[in-house]
Amino acid sequence: MARVVILFGPPGAGKGTQASRLSAALGLPHVSTGDLFREHGAKGTPLGQAAQKFMDAGQLVPDAVVLDMLFDRTSKADCKAGYLLDGFPRTVPQAEARAARLAKTDHVSVLNLQVPDAVLLERITGRRSCKACSNVHHLRTAPPKTAGRCDKCGGELVQRSDDTTKVFGDRLAVYRQQTQPLEGWYARAGTLVDVDGNRAPEVVFEELRSKAFPEPSKGRA
Ligand code: AP5
Repeated sequence: MARVVILFGPPGAGKGTQASRLSAALGLPHVSTGDLFREHGAKGTPLGQAAQKFMDAGQLVPDAVVLDMLFDRTSKADCKAGYLLDGFPRTVPQAEARAARLAKTDHVSVLNLQVPDAVLLERITGRRSCKACSNVHHLRTAPPKTAGRCDKCGGELVQRSDDTTKVFGDRLAVYRQQTQPLEGWYARAGTLVDVDGNRAPEVVFEELRSKAFPEPSKGRA
C-alpha cells in the first residue's frame, strides 16, 4: 500500500513551507513539480527552458510535459511506499492521469490550504528563496538571520521571477479557473480535507500532520 499526500492550495498558501516539515514528519519524499521545473531551469535543460516561459507568464506548463516529469520522479525507489505532492495536480487531466496509476490499496489524502487573497499577495511578494537549496524565507514573517543569506545553507536569497504582483495576479486567475475545480473532484472522492492556512506555520503544521492520512473508508482518487 502506498500513501499519497497531496498539498493543495493557491500560490502562497504555504504548500512548500509545510511540505518540507511534513515530508520529514511522515517519512515521505517531497515531490514538488515547481521545484523540479526550477531545478531543470537552473541546469538549462530543454525541459527547464520550455517550462520557464510558462512559469514567467504565470501560466501552467502543458499537462503532457508535467506528467512525464512527475511519473519519472514518482517511479524512483524512494517513492515506492508513497510520496507527498506539492503543486500537483493542477488540472483535471493531471488528476485523472495520476489516479489511473494508483493501486487498489493505495491511500490518498488531499489537504486543502485556505488563505485569503490579500494574505497570499503579501506572502508571495515578500518571499525570498535560496538559490542553492530552495529554502524559503519571508522578509516580514520569516526573515533570514543575515540579510540576503539563507539560514539553512548560507546561499543567496533571491526573489522568484514569478513572485511579482503582476504575475501573481495571473497565477491566481489560472488557479481559480483551472486548478480550483479539483476541489469538487476530490470532495466527491471523499479525500479532500480543508485546513485553515492563515495561522502560524506551527499551528497549520500540527493540523496537517493530524489529518494527513484518511480513514480506511475514504476514497482513492
Ligand atoms: P509552484 O512552485 O508550485 O508555485 P505555486 O503553486 O504557485 O506555489 P508557491 O510556491 O508560489 O507557494 P506555496 O504555497 O508553496 O507557498 P510557500 O510555502 O512558499 O509552481 C510555479 C509554476 O510552475 C506554476 O505557476 C506553473 O507555471 C508551473 N507548474 C508547477 N507545477 C505545475 C503543474 N502541476 N502543472 C502545470 N504547471 C505547473 O509560502 C509563501 C511565502 O509565505 C513564504 O515566504 C513563506 O515563508 C510564507 N508563509 C508560508 N506559510 C506561512 C504562514 N502560515 N504564515 C506566514 N507566512 C507564511
